[in-house]
Order: sequence, then C-alpha cells, then structure tokens
Amino acid sequence: MKFTNIIIGLTTVAALGMLSSSLSQSVWNKAEIELLGSMSITKLGAMPNDPSNLVAENNQAAELGQKFFFDKRLSSDGSVACATCHSSEKYFADDQARSEGVGMTNRKAPSIVGAGFYKWYFWDGRADSQWSQALGPLENANEHGGDRTQYARVVFENYKTEFEALFGQMPELADTSRFPSHAGPVTDPKVSNAWQSMYPMDRKAVTRIFVNIGKAIAAYERKLNPGRSRFDTFVETLAHPENDPDASATLNDDEVAGLRLFIGKAGCVSCHNGPLLTDQQFHNTGVPTAKDLELDVGRGTGLQKLAASEFGCLTEYSDAKAAECAANTTTDAYDTSSEVKNMNGAFKTPSLRGASLHAPFMHAGQFKSLQEVLKHYSNAPSSPTGDSEIKPLSLSSLEMQQIEAFLKSLEAPVNADVRWLEDPFSN
Ligand code: HEC
Ligand code: HEC
Repeated sequence: MKFTNIIIGLTTVAALGMLSSSLSQSVWNKAEIELLGSMSITKLGAMPNDPSNLVAENNQAAELGQKFFFDKRLSSDGSVACATCHSSEKYFADDQARSEGVGMTNRKAPSIVGAGFYKWYFWDGRADSQWSQALGPLENANEHGGDRTQYARVVFENYKTEFEALFGQMPELADTSRFPSHAGPVTDPKVSNAWQSMYPMDRKAVTRIFVNIGKAIAAYERKLNPGRSRFDTFVETLAHPENDPDASATLNDDEVAGLRLFIGKAGCVSCHNGPLLTDQQFHNTGVPTAKDLELDVGRGTGLQKLAASEFGCLTEYSDAKAAECAANTTTDAYDTSSEVKNMNGAFKTPSLRGASLHAPFMHAGQFKSLQEVLKHYSNAPSSPTGDSEIKPLSLSSLEMQQIEAFLKSLEAPVNADVRWLEDPFSN
C-alpha cells in the first residue's frame, strides 16, 4: 500500500512537471508567432530576377552550367571543379576549414544552396552578382588555377553547339596564333604576357566567353534551394493549429527551448533572420584569426575589391541597368558618408539553413563544431580587428545544447529536381 502510494506520488510529480514544461514551451505570444512566421521557408517566395544575367532563368543554360560546375577540365591540371569544394554530399559546401583546389585557399567554402537569393557573394561581398562570383575561383591560382583562353578552348572543343545556341557564334579558337593555349590576366607572368600580346578585340571575345561560362553556372546554381525543414512545419502549425493540433510532433522540447533562446535571450535573430536566417549584411562577431593566417579584414576591403573588379553588375559584361544592381538598391552598399561604420572584421552573415550539415564553421573554419560556435557567442571575445557587435551571453551548457538542437532542426534536403544534384560525369 505504502509502496503504491509512492509510485503514484512520483508519477504525479512527473506528470505535473511534463505538463508545466510543455505549457511553457508551447505558449508563444503574438509578436513571437509573427517573428517565427517571417523565418518560415514559405516566406522565401520566388527567386528574385537577376537582370544582370539574361540566361539566369534559361533551362538550357542551367544544364550547360551544371556540366561546367562538375567539369574538372576547367582547371589548370584537370583535378578541380566547382564541385570539389561545393559538394552535393555536403549541402554544396566543404568539410575543410580552408578549401583546397590546386592550392590552398584562405577561406572556408560556404554552401551555395539558396545563393540565388543573395545580393552579395563571398564572405566579404566582393562580388555583387552570381555570375561574376563564379569567375573568381576559375582564375584564382589556388582554386581552379587556369586561364581564359584555356577555358574558352574547353568550351570550343566540348560544348560548342550548346554554347553557341545560347550565346552566339564563337571565334575561331583553333587558331593558336591569335588565341594562345594559355592566356589571361592572371598572376603567372607567362600567361599574362601572352594575354597582353593578343589583339584587344580577341581578348574581349575570349572574355565574353568566360563571362558566359559564369552566367551558365549561375543559371544552374539557381536550381539549388533550401528545402522544408522540421522548423518550418513547426512554424506553420503554430500559425494554423487547426491544420495539425500536434505541433509538438515537429520539434522536441530541447529544440523548442533552443528556438526560444535563438529569438530571445541569445539574440541570434537580430542577424540570422528572414526565411534564410540571414540578414544578408556584414557584421563583426569577433571571430578569431585562423591559425597560420594573417588578419582578415573581410568587408573592410570588400567594396574596394568590387569597385576594382573587371566584372559585376555595374560593368559592361552585365545585362542590367545600373539602377538594378545591388550596389544601387541596398542602403549599406556604396555609402561613403562619414557615418558609415568601419567594416573591418565584418563578414557576411551566413544562412543557417542546413548549416549543421557542413562543419567546420565561420569564414576560415575556425570552429570545428556547433558547440565551439556557441561557446564563442557565449564568451564574445573582442575582435582581432574593429569592434565586435556581440556581447557575452553566459549561456549554460544546457542552453548551448538546446540552441544546437534547434539549429539541427533547420536541416533539410536540397530542394531541387534530382537531376540537378547529379554529377553529369559520374558514369
Ligand atoms: C578550391 C575550392 C573552391 C572551388 C574549386 C570553388 N569554390 Fe566557391 N568558394 C570557395 C571558398 C573558399 C569560398 C569563400 C571565398 C571567399 O569568401 O573569399 C567560395 C565562395 C563561393 C560562393 C559564395 C557563396 C556566398 O555565400 O557568398 C559561391 C556562390 C561559390 N563559391 C560558387 C563556386 C563556383 C560556381 C565555383 C566553380 C566555378 C566554385 N565556387 C569553385 C571554395 C571554392
Ligand atoms: C551581430 C550579428 C550576429 C549575431 C547576433 C549572431 N550571428 Fe551567427 N554569424 C554572424 C556572422 C557575421 C557570421 C560569420 C562570421 C565569420 O565567419 O567571421 C556568423 C556565423 C554563424 C554560424 C556559422 C555558420 C557557417 O556556415 O559557418 C553559426 C552556426 C551561427 N552564426 C549561429 C549563431 C547563433 C546560434 C547565434 C546566437 C547565439 C548567432 N549566430 C548570433 C552574425 C551574427
């Protein structure tokens, strides 16, 4: 008798405990429900046009771009493709702290899933369009390491028909007296001298081919978008409980507690907001300089690099009117007023959708795990350059675990027709 009483007593305590925790977990006020609604994948909407790229929505261009994305012949030694560092198995990101192509880079490869929604590309935003971004790694000595006439010839020899159908007639690239096998404005003096020795008209024709490789790749990348995660189902059932009264089935108590911290006490949502969980801005979060690397000022020099770039939305290779470019449509852009913040040490806020699928984290893979990321936010050390915008949060280890659990609820398969996920050269 006595024994049974104890059991009943314990059960009651446990039941009461569960009730109160699920009550506190499941009650959200109107403002919170609105905020969560703004983060739902359903708010992503259609991908914005890219007026700087006339083939952005062209399926033939996307198919060709997919081949370029996976084609290792577009590299100095035939060993590197975009997919080397943006692997479909890693949510189109890399698992290396610093990506390695034909040489070693200084940064971690972000995921390209959903990148069609971005205004700025690279951690420092030094590209303002997706096609011009793609041209960077192709000519970078440590990534693909090749050059423009080499790439133009790969297209001429392997993709001429498809390419000409989209972009018009190619010049007679078989003529090596006019088009050397290796020429382009790269660091290798032999290759850049060969470039300088070409007729200006031929240089321009080759550059147009190079640009169009980028535009086809961008059309492909636009096919890769974030899928619906458990978080999204949770948010939807909060807004419309009548559709599925069992909202708790989509996120467990730890995940819900982590979400509460994310939009509440931990303040993550001030930068990781909207349906991609990024404000697409640049912030200094005091991430330490990576071991063996020099100080990286990030956005501090991003705009100068963009202004000095041969490519971008405002250049002659763009299909857009100047008024349509990010530089002229976003308030932070080319603001040179004295009030503009010093952007040294600021990096682009990454999307957190699928982030847990591609450790390590931050611009040079400084943190191996989400646990390390959360310790960083909890301690908020001062920045190696400029002023960090984050304040110490003093999170408990339980709170960190809860935020980590929530971040994992943002995992979802890439939202794309399966054919876009396949390597066209895999068999
Ligand atoms: C050697 C590895 C490597 C290769 C090859 C490579 N990338 Fe990247 N990618 C990176 C790194 C590292 C970054 C970040 C660089 C930076 O911010 O300075 C990056 C950044 C990007 C971004 C910007 C994403 C964002 O959120 O701003 C896109 C898009 C992208 N790469 C697409 C491509 C395409 C397309 C190709 C092929 C033409 C390619 N990459 C080839 C490593 C690579
Ligand atoms: C002031 C704006 C800001 C706040 C607040 C903020 N973040 Fe970030 N977050 C960033 C920026 C910027 C980066 C990239 C920093 C870098 O690489 O140097 C980043 C990177 C990350 C990454 C790594 C993603 C990747 O792909 O490498 C994770 C995870 C993350 N933040 C989670 C959080 C969480 C959780 C919180 C709240 C505890 C939070 N962030 C608060 C701006 C912010």
